[in-house]
Amino acid sequence: MRILVTGGCGFIGANFLHLLAAERPGWNICNVDALTYAGNLANVREPAATLKQLYRFEHADIADAQAIRRVFEDFRPEAVVNFAAESHVDRSIADAAPFIRTNVDGVLTLLQLAREMGIPRFIQVSTDEVYGSLGPTGLFSETTPLAPNSPYSASKAGGDLLCRAWHETYGFPAIITRCSNNYGPFQFPEKLIPLMFLRATADEPLPVYGDGANVRDWIFVEDHCRGVLAALEHGRPGAVYNFGGNAERANMQVVEAILRLCGKPKSLIRLVADRPGHDRRYAMDYSLAAAELGFAPSVSFEAGLERTLAWYAARPEWVAGVISGAYRTFMQEWYGERL
Ligand code: NAD
Ligand code: TYD
Repeated sequence: MRILVTGGCGFIGANFLHLLAAERPGWNICNVDALTYAGNLANVREPAATLKQLYRFEHADIADAQAIRRVFEDFRPEAVVNFAAESHVDRSIADAAPFIRTNVDGVLTLLQLAREMGIPRFIQVSTDEVYGSLGPTGLFSETTPLAPNSPYSASKAGGDLLCRAWHETYGFPAIITRCSNNYGPFQFPEKLIPLMFLRATADEPLPVYGDGANVRDWIFVEDHCRGVLAALEHGRPGAVYNFGGNAERANMQVVEAILRLCGKPKSLIRLVADRPGHDRRYAMDYSLAAAELGFAPSVSFEAGLERTLAWYAARPEWVAGVISGAYRTFMQEWYGERL
């Protein structure tokens, strides 16, 4: 199998490449990544070393049609898995433009080239956030109407709708996967779990938005990657598959669990002004993926959280490497007045 993976230097993409190196060692992989602030070549050092000539890296932007055409024509993929995205809701609130470029224009570029070249497998990695927000009960299913509330989720919904249209209009075999909140190794420390852990270990205040009662359905990243691999190998063209972790937790529960695990006091918690448009609750019905792909999350939230914090604690150089000057500027601008 010749597989083109985009965004392989980011959090989930890198975990996916680790999974492929371990479990599909004969595959030929091309990793296309623009190396934005969230992309880090160090995240793929191990799979690159394991796969040797079966792995190549292409530094390119998925919205740059000329560059992506060169990569497609040279590599001739049999499958595309699109992880590349601008992925952080708070950044999308500060500036939506890069989100539209990558998450909408980038998907369009990939779809146009993949269709032109007759590529038979195409996985668009998407999110539960396209469905909007739930009340206290109920679950998102694949037929829940799309109702995105943030610029990030609106841009992801745009990409998903293009995939849908490419299937309906041209019979192009796109598959969309929508997953709940991931956590695990290699996650950029702007996201809740690594952010809170790294700040707690440095005895810095922990900014919890609003009343801390917003609920997310947490999934260990390896479980998500196994779902994407199953969709790639066994998914139905045109299908949408939800993946979830069966682990709904309020943000305050997550933050308190992190404090307990690192032995830090609750007095570090600061309730700060809420995120605008903050979705209250996400939870996934993944019964379709269970029935058609054999998907099931296997790592409990408690076990996954311990593994994740141990991973960060053991890698101070990785953390120092990703916390660049640009990241510090974003942190200051976003949280400055609130903390
Ligand atoms: P991330 O921000 O950690 O990584 C994104 C990667 O994409 C980076 O390596 C970055 O350099 C690359 N990239 C960004 N713009 C690019 C462009 N124009 N061209 C090429 N590469 C580009 O994101 P993540 O958390 O790993 O998310 C991966 C995918 O999974 C995204 O599509 C996201 O919407 C989706 N998703 C994420 C979560 C989550 O909890 N993190 C949950 C569900 C779905
Ligand atoms: P995040 O990790 O940004 O993921 P998403 O917005 O995609 O769900 O945030 C997870 C939850 O944590 C979300 O409800 C917002 C909340 N949150 C805070 O309370 N404080 C923070 O500093 C951050 C980054 C998130």
